[in-house]
Amino acid sequence: MDRPGTYDFDRVVDRRGTSSLKWDSSRKYTGRDSLLPLWVADMDFEAPREIRDAIARRAEHGIFGYTMEPESLFEAARQWLQRRHGWSVDRDWMLASPGVIPCLSAAILALTEPGDGVIIQPPVYHPFAMRITANGRRVVENALRLAGERWEIDFDDLERRIDERTRMLILCSPHNPVSRVWSREDLQRLAAICVSGNVIIVSDEIHCDLVMPGFRHIPVASVSEEASSRSVTLVAATKTFNLAGLGGSLAIVPDADMRRRLDAAQHAVFAGIGNAFAAAASEAAWRTGAQWLDELLAYVQGNYRFTVSFLSKRLAAVRAFPLEGTYLALLDMRALGLTDDELTDLLQREGGVWLDEGRRFGCGGQGMERLNLACPRATLSDGLERVVRALAPGVRAAGRGE
Ligand SMILES: Cc1ncc(COP(=O)(O)O)c(C=O)c1O
Repeated sequence: MDRPGTYDFDRVVDRRGTSSLKWDSSRKYTGRDSLLPLWVADMDFEAPREIRDAIARRAEHGIFGYTMEPESLFEAARQWLQRRHGWSVDRDWMLASPGVIPCLSAAILALTEPGDGVIIQPPVYHPFAMRITANGRRVVENALRLAGERWEIDFDDLERRIDERTRMLILCSPHNPVSRVWSREDLQRLAAICVSGNVIIVSDEIHCDLVMPGFRHIPVASVSEEASSRSVTLVAATKTFNLAGLGGSLAIVPDADMRRRLDAAQHAVFAGIGNAFAAAASEAAWRTGAQWLDELLAYVQGNYRFTVSFLSKRLAAVRAFPLEGTYLALLDMRALGLTDDELTDLLQREGGVWLDEGRRFGCGGQGMERLNLACPRATLSDGLERVVRALAPGVRAAGRGE
């Protein structure tokens, strides 16, 4: 251990047989059994005790009828955003949702028209593009630019992409998969361009708490009055505290008209019924989770450093981009000169390890793989050994029939 802590993130918990997407679906999605999964963004850590106790208390009651999100949930979120991010949010601005992606779909339906352009910044979380096209809107790509080992927003290109049919930009902040925590200057510039182009910002800030020591998350809605009144911010406790299987998220919409439209769209696509366990868990998380989160972030940062040092010694052709936020490290494998199909095949067949292909995140992701760092160090170490086994020069040559 490289830091003393209250929580034991080194503890390995067997997740197989729990209907875990990460651990129990490899045959279905890859055609192979027993791959070590370091893909999808959930963690192999138990949620903190206070959250499990809150769920157990709710379960013990025994009656699980239709449930409303309690006012205390909104208050817990409001206080968390104030304490953790210095962002003052009115209770009235908040709408509850079953999850960030369902709410993103509702926002697209509520705030754009069929055929409108919606900007995304690839490589980026792939459901954004899927939701845009599934709802009959057009994907407009403002690709991130790679400057050395740093991914940046291409502001000139962003300005060029906006025309009278471009109504919305979906921001990923912090950005999955490139792990950038956008600076105040980045966000001010982006917001100014969107305001002057009459573009609504839907800011997916589900990773906002997962920011490495030394970095600070800035909610885009907090950078100016104009940004606030043109934004929908999506937050949740689910990513931060490993509660994705429970669901639940909040939309924060300062503008009353946009909020009314989003609320109406949510009611049109799903009944506004809350999940009793999600509400209990998220409220407990926001009330009590700060210490656990601080220790988690230190552990994830330790895992990132371990990965960088491991790769530099054992597979120097593969490099991890700097990790500013999220627990997902993007690995640059382009120097190996392999196609994406070859990479996947070698990693899974020779290595027995399952990462997320960078190409899934759209343009710029080719030749890269996303590694999930939110696991015990022993699991990570096993995974990295498998990556080396798959991609070491001799294996590569054999795999390609050279
Ligand atoms: C950027 C981003 N948004 C949304 C989600 C999923 O949100 P939800 O499960 O609330 O739909 C994820 C999950 O990985 C994500 O990375």
